[in-house]
Amino acid sequence: MDKSNYDALLRFEEENIEFPPFVRALHAIEDQLRLFRSTGMAKHLLVLGESGTGKSTLCRLLVQKYPRLVLPERDVVSVLYVCVPASATIAAVSSEILRVLGDPDPNSGTVQSRTLRIITLCRACGVELLLVDEAQHMHDRGKHTTHYLVGDWIKRLIDELALPSVFLGLPRFERLLQVNEQLRRRFSRRLWLALGQSDETSVETECLQLFISLAACLPIPLSYGEYGVEEFGQRLFYASDGRVAYIKKLLQSALARALSDGYDEITPRDLQQAFTQDIWWEGVERLNPFSTDFCFRRLDRAGEPFETGAAIATATRR
Ligand SMILES: Nc1ncnc2c1ncn2[C@@H]1O[C@H](COP(=O)(O)OP(=O)(O)OP(=O)(O)O)[C@@H](O)[C@H]1O
Ligand SMILES: [Mg+2]
Repeated sequence: MDKSNYDALLRFEEENIEFPPFVRALHAIEDQLRLFRSTGMAKHLLVLGESGTGKSTLCRLLVQKYPRLVLPERDVVSVLYVCVPASATIAAVSSEILRVLGDPDPNSGTVQSRTLRIITLCRACGVELLLVDEAQHMHDRGKHTTHYLVGDWIKRLIDELALPSVFLGLPRFERLLQVNEQLRRRFSRRLWLALGQSDETSVETECLQLFISLAACLPIPLSYGEYGVEEFGQRLFYASDGRVAYIKKLLQSALARALSDGYDEITPRDLQQAFTQDIWWEGVERLNPFSTDFCFRRLDRAGEPFETGAAIATATRR
């Protein structure tokens, strides 16, 4: 592959599409920020989505839009982005927040003194919005009592900060809220990043629209082959579970192959190979959504690529 082909792949990877749930979440977060700037009111929001639905991308976009300013006397961090570490103890989370805020010694001190430093630094840096990504890590560690304690610490922190906050994570993060009523009340507003929430448009059509928007960024055209548009949309939904990451991965893989083999279009056959190669190596014949033998069902059973550990959350969403 030559340099221009690598450039085409890179450009495609960097492309951000404004699909409906992504834009809804973006606007909701910016509304929180505007409300805070105009009134000082701090609202909280939960943004939930399975892996690959765009949560971290949404955070990155906000951080780019409201970048950190490095002034001679201090840093101004309007939007503070924190990614919860896997060992999500209160100590680890507080250290991480301090690290992002530029504390010279983020691991020192008791939880109480770290909490106070977080509040002082947030004020000094002019933080106006807190984005907490990978929030489910706070649920993944420990049992009921730990969940309650972590939840209680977050509740006290956001109350004392008096800043708007957005917690983003996998659907199982909701379970942490189930054990802490006070936290649940603060995060009563929830948004899902999943496709399939529209009353007017089917999830397959939404999936196809996202695919078409992404395909428009490709340097070569795409053909539906022998499939009609509606059927192609269905197959695409089964191949991606309606998640932007998988739609992108399918197109990326098919594009890389087409560019290296010198094809002048991408066909369902390329997508069929891309699915096996980059999404699920066992996804062949009846289990490959782009194969003519496909069994037309969601690939979410045990061991399949879209198996979900969040039966409760998925049931609420649909
Ligand atoms: N709006 C978008 N437009 C185009 N591509 C996107 C968009 N949102 C996400 N993607 C792509 O999808 C992939 C996964 O996105 P991201 O990492 O944001 O998902 P996530 O929900 O944070 O997943 P995880 O829960 O696994 O961390 C990335 O390659 C990203 O480029
Ligand atoms: Mg992420």
